[in-house]
Amino acid sequence: MAELPEYQPTEFLKVSDLVASDSLDWDYFYRQGTPSWDTGKPEPCFFDMLKKHNIRSGTVLEIGCGSGADACLMSALKFEVTAIDVASMAIDRAHLLADKYHQKLRIVHGDVFPFSERCGTFDLVYDIGFYHYIRDHKLREFLDLLWRTTHSGSYYYTLCASAENALPEFELEKTAHDPMPKVAPPPVYEDEIRMELGRLFETIDIQPAFMQTRECIDYPAWSCLFRRP
Ligand SMILES: C[S@@+](CC[C@H](N)C(=O)[O-])C[C@H]1O[C@@H](n2cnc3c(N)ncnc32)[C@H](O)[C@@H]1O
Repeated sequence: MAELPEYQPTEFLKVSDLVASDSLDWDYFYRQGTPSWDTGKPEPCFFDMLKKHNIRSGTVLEIGCGSGADACLMSALKFEVTAIDVASMAIDRAHLLADKYHQKLRIVHGDVFPFSERCGTFDLVYDIGFYHYIRDHKLREFLDLLWRTTHSGSYYYTLCASAENALPEFELEKTAHDPMPKVAPPPVYEDEIRMELGRLFETIDIQPAFMQTRECIDYPAWSCLFRRP
């Protein structure tokens, strides 16, 4: 019988530690298997927030859509969806998911920064786990992108990891037996969110929430909705 490999505690990486600039190879995580953030299911707190504020229709842009679970549900809810991701394997999976659920949405493989210069504006722009990563490297460029892709009355939603309630190290080690590299989302304080995104938007709602992961733990997060005046 084959011997079990020796137990090795997980080396927990932070996305922001991996990215000296913004040159992270996102496709690497998808080539290795299924990344820890990719549950294959929509994030309930995002859909709860839309329902709470009666946001039911319009054009939407998802930034960093991954394998497309949120984008497909948005399309099923009759939003007119454009979903973009820089990782080609994530985009292949998003196409498969859209086909599986017979959803017609625009799925784009590419970098959202150049894309935002030609895609026009949307009634709702959202990301699940993009703002909390990009703010460390390209906050000004990201705010410019949000300015280009929204118009007066547009909403912006982000689900980002919470610094106030960040998990202690010992809890993170529970994920040790998976060969996939673990990536802890870079956490953000509520004050930072209000200050950074308040430069463009009025704050509509910020709620404590959880980001789902494939492991046995979910990350404390902020579920945030803004509107452009
Ligand atoms: C933390 S993951 C979240 C993925 C997805 N929203 C989810 O919850 O499963 C961040 C995503 O942003 C994508 N991404 C990173 N930089 C990007 C860029 N410049 N343009 C488009 N997508 C990007 C990555 O490939 C990755 O799929």
